[in-house]
Amino acid sequence: MNATTLISDTSFAERVQTLRQQLQHHGHRYYVLDEPEIPDAEYDRLFTELQALELAHPELTSPDSPTLRVGGLPLAQFTSVRHAVPMLSIRTETDTLATGAENFDARVRRELGLTPTDTPVEYVAELKFDGLAMNLRYENGVLVRAATRGDGEVGEDVTQNIRTIRQIPLRLNAAAAIDIPAILEVRGEVYMRRDEFEALNERQCEKIARGAKGEKTFVNPRNAAAGGVRQLDPAIAAQRRLSFFAYGLGEVTPATQGGPAFKTHYDLLMTLKAWGFPVAEQTKVVRGAAELVAFHQHMGETRDQLPYDIDGVVYKVNSLALQRQLGFVTREPRWAVAHKYPAQEQLTTVLSIDVQVGRTGKLTPVAKLAPVFVGGVTVTNATLHNEDEARRKDVRIGDTVIVRRAGDVIPEVVSVVLEKRQGQAEQFTMPRQCPVCGSAAVREEGEADYRCTGGLFCGAQRKEAILHYAHRRAVEVDGLGDRLVELLVDANIIRTLPDLYRLGLTSLAGLDRMADKSANNLLEAIEKSKQTTLPRFLFGLGIRHVGEATAKALARYFGQLDAIMNASEAELLAVDDVGPVVAQSIRTFFDQAHNREVVEQLRACGVTWEEGEPAERAPQPLSGKTFVITGTLPTLGRDEAKDKVEAAGGKVAGSVSKKTDYVVAGTEAGSKLTKALELGVKVIDENQLMELLNGGA
Ligand code: IVH
Repeated sequence: MNATTLISDTSFAERVQTLRQQLQHHGHRYYVLDEPEIPDAEYDRLFTELQALELAHPELTSPDSPTLRVGGLPLAQFTSVRHAVPMLSIRTETDTLATGAENFDARVRRELGLTPTDTPVEYVAELKFDGLAMNLRYENGVLVRAATRGDGEVGEDVTQNIRTIRQIPLRLNAAAAIDIPAILEVRGEVYMRRDEFEALNERQCEKIARGAKGEKTFVNPRNAAAGGVRQLDPAIAAQRRLSFFAYGLGEVTPATQGGPAFKTHYDLLMTLKAWGFPVAEQTKVVRGAAELVAFHQHMGETRDQLPYDIDGVVYKVNSLALQRQLGFVTREPRWAVAHKYPAQEQLTTVLSIDVQVGRTGKLTPVAKLAPVFVGGVTVTNATLHNEDEARRKDVRIGDTVIVRRAGDVIPEVVSVVLEKRQGQAEQFTMPRQCPVCGSAAVREEGEADYRCTGGLFCGAQRKEAILHYAHRRAVEVDGLGDRLVELLVDANIIRTLPDLYRLGLTSLAGLDRMADKSANNLLEAIEKSKQTTLPRFLFGLGIRHVGEATAKALARYFGQLDAIMNASEAELLAVDDVGPVVAQSIRTFFDQAHNREVVEQLRACGVTWEEGEPAERAPQPLSGKTFVITGTLPTLGRDEAKDKVEAAGGKVAGSVSKKTDYVVAGTEAGSKLTKALELGVKVIDENQLMELLNGGA
């Protein structure tokens, strides 16, 4: 017997009531106030209990039950709803300058018959959310209908979908100071947060990649929100994770019939907040045009830090009596205006995709665009960040793309409008050669960026290479800092490092701000730098991952530069401090003919150091031995084991043959182990391998 059947029906009804109240309270704490009081798991537990009770007792279902938030059955179509009070739009000022606010204030003052000596008008400054307008109708405190704006007179009934928005109360919070009116229509904006938008598009991309038909990515959060609200299947709407801000009222029980008597717009917003609606915290009471301008400017500067898009600010006369006095012109109130910001996103076409090389050798794909005015400036380039991003967005030459420029951030391509793709342009691939110097471009494991490996030679990296070489802890050229390097390189006096040693007074004389004395000092410092040490020189070459400590370790181990330049990766690995990434980086660096040339030229220019003897090398316990590693070892990763074997002079092969000396087997070793047993190859475990590495027999 089910335990719940022991409880009487009234207790069920009571329990259901309690659960709904608790869930409403905690949902509001979590979704609106962002101050949860209980852990998510506890909320889920209450929710599941309520769901179970409602399932067992369908007579207890109610339109304000939080269980409706997960979405009911799909609709065949939406029904039309005539708005009790039309949903108007507001006049828009697009002026980016102060004039938008000043014009509005001047109009209001004129309409109200105020003279310049009268006190400033009080306004509420709000954000203009970039979503879609919604009318929420509450009867006796319960949400009964949600309707879109439609043409302002007639909208669509989207109640099922709107119930899935956790921030919208299904029942008003009765704890507010003002009684809940019999009829209350709350107006506001349904929107999607930027992080939810990005997550949604990522999910869409995955679906498309899996070959799902009829799926697409969304252009911006507003379209995604509008699409979510207009879903016939509320379960899909629920997945969109939409949000809401309240900013006004529709039909309300009049004060004469016991309805609320608000004096100001701000009062009514604060009451909506107390009833359980989200009201943007930036909402502010201000006085006069100057304060409107300040608000517009401040929000313009900080709007990128908001978690959602706004396309402007809205000014409203605060006093409701003055609002009534001002009234309407045609379909727009005289007491409100929207002051927009320049759009941060625009459509344009991709003319080409270039790859730029940064000062430190990083390759960045950049889309060259047909010029477009966005975020207040004309944009012709937009970064694609790196290979993965470029591929994820799949930007191709000729594509129509959405470009975003938010604040002072570099413009970026948000997405491709696939519907507009015509050409057969190929998918973008990163070049394997540096577009500036032709050296190999490599992407290290676990890194997002490709880098040019011709650090000593590459034109893009010139300044950085010289600065690094001249650094106090590297070869040290006293006095050769940022500004001077900039000057010398820009004037084409120095192209590569050896040019430094070819400098003379004549070439320096022409330089701006270079007195004879400082020219002499520089030449002296350059001369002095010729006598250096191997670790300093090595460090000064700017090989990726070779810091001072590694340079010292390499110098100590090999003694001579040529030995390092010619060492194999396995040999490099034998040096303390050098792992596979560093070994590969050193090898790649010296594999670039141009880098070697520069090193030779530096030596020819007289850069010298005392070369030493290779360090007394520990005997290589595994030299001449071939290993095969198979299965999962208890502590060592496969690569780690391989590195250790190689560092000890051994070789690691991929398959077992008669030449194999040892098979190191872990758990779930398969065919390689069988083969070893067949051939009579010695099989050892991790412990035995460690013993061998430590010189044991
Ligand atoms: S007030 C009669 N306040 O902008 C006044 N509208 O035409 C009605 N909007 O689509 C609107 N944020 O959905 C108002 N803080 C805000 C708003 C806002 C966004 C939207 C609204 C409508 C358009 C105004």
